[in-house]
Amino acid sequence: MDKKLLEIVFDNLYNGIYVVDGKGVTIGVNKTFEEMSGFSNAELTGRNLRDLVGEDNYFSGSASLLVLERKCPVTATYSTSTNRKFLVKGRPIFNHQGKIEYIINTIWDLTVVHYNHQIDADTARSQILSDDDFITCSEKMSSVIDLALRVAETDSTILLTGESGVGKSLLAKTIHRSSERKQKVLMKINCAAIPESLIESELFGYEGGAFTGADNKGKAGLLEIAKGGTVFLDEISELPLHLQSKLLGVIQDKEFYRVGGREAQRTDIRLIAATNKDLVTLVSEGQFREDLYYRLNVVPIAIPPLRERREDIPTLIQHFTEKYNRKYNSYKKLSENLINQMVSMPWKGNIRELENVVERSIVTTLGDFISWEKVQIPGIENIIPKDIGLKEMLAEQEKEILLQAQKKYKTTRRIAAALGISQATTARKLKAINDTLLDQTETNNDISPHLPE
Ligand SMILES: Nc1ncnc2c1ncn2[C@@H]1O[C@H](COP(=O)(O)OP(=O)(O)OP(=O)(O)O)[C@@H](O)[C@H]1O
Ligand SMILES: [Mg+2]
Repeated sequence: MDKKLLEIVFDNLYNGIYVVDGKGVTIGVNKTFEEMSGFSNAELTGRNLRDLVGEDNYFSGSASLLVLERKCPVTATYSTSTNRKFLVKGRPIFNHQGKIEYIINTIWDLTVVHYNHQIDADTARSQILSDDDFITCSEKMSSVIDLALRVAETDSTILLTGESGVGKSLLAKTIHRSSERKQKVLMKINCAAIPESLIESELFGYEGGAFTGADNKGKAGLLEIAKGGTVFLDEISELPLHLQSKLLGVIQDKEFYRVGGREAQRTDIRLIAATNKDLVTLVSEGQFREDLYYRLNVVPIAIPPLRERREDIPTLIQHFTEKYNRKYNSYKKLSENLINQMVSMPWKGNIRELENVVERSIVTTLGDFISWEKVQIPGIENIIPKDIGLKEMLAEQEKEILLQAQKKYKTTRRIAAALGISQATTARKLKAINDTLLDQTETNNDISPHLPE
């Protein structure tokens, strides 16, 4: 293909393209990316992503920087200062020496400009999934996302399976946001959360006087309100059997009746269902309708548990550390040793559990440096660490006290006075602590190795 034609192809791809060199410097973007982001090729070319990323900067984060750090493909969602939201897949291109020469980023636009104003805002507000970014560098997860993006454009029904906390809800949102329906509502319905006596009228609505206590004017159900959009049926296994057949009707005939209604309601929805149960077993036990199972299982997407993609753990820890440092206005950092220990933990609660542990560590530990000894992780016997004795534990405590005192009193004279030890001892101990901290972390610049006297 000649160069001119290649340029035409580059600029006319459906996706945005962002090309970066091995140092993180922008080589160029295509026209689609210019249109998506509102940034021009001229203003981005030649600029290092490190200077373009951060709060109130061009981008909230960068897949390329993660690719450079981890030396593997990365998928992540980011926002821009122009209020756009992107899904980015960054792929490294290696040279003969095995060094990254280029990173080719392919970008999908997840921006939602407005929701359908026709919806009953009160009902829908609590149902619309909240905003959240995701990130992964595992091959397994990457192929899950590829499949999700491929089917997002179609209207096929999707069944998301996976343990609790693996990211089913997050993926449902991403699918909706990369579909044609993204400007319409994404209605989340948790089948386990609505009382059984209400679920039929909540889902399908009712006509005036349909039952005692019913509104005279009747009420539209969530499936009706979601017209034109996507309905996310979470914990589908908890849907009572008689409603399973009504839902089957919705899928097959694209219509249903309100409770007490005689007029068929036409539906125009895309269905995504999710479960952490094994539906095949439930079908064999007669707890789930087989025909509904086949109707839902048109495109099955199984999300692997975190323990089957441990390479994601360090990246996720970094992602959540940044997220909660931003939230709590702190500059904390987890020690390498802690991250290594976390990589080998079971994570039964998957990413939700990991996120909670990182948030709790940031909120509850003193000092900016979070070590393994300080963190309480349920199910792990780390109150009394196995590898260290009393002496090391006491040293750890002493270090903590001295670092806190250093923050508060600043000079060795005042620290010594506050702790009732000599100034020489204070200076010696702090120098030793700060030296080891500097060895452990190059980026934590909150530690001053030399204090004023
Ligand atoms: N790849 C990821 N990157 C960043 N955050 C993630 C990722 N996957 C999941 N999360 C976060 O982990 C938490 C749990 O994810 P989510 O609610 O989507 O899980 P789930 O599979 O729907 O769980 P449940 O079965 O309990 O409903 C959320 O806060 C979500 O934002
Ligand atoms: Mg969920």
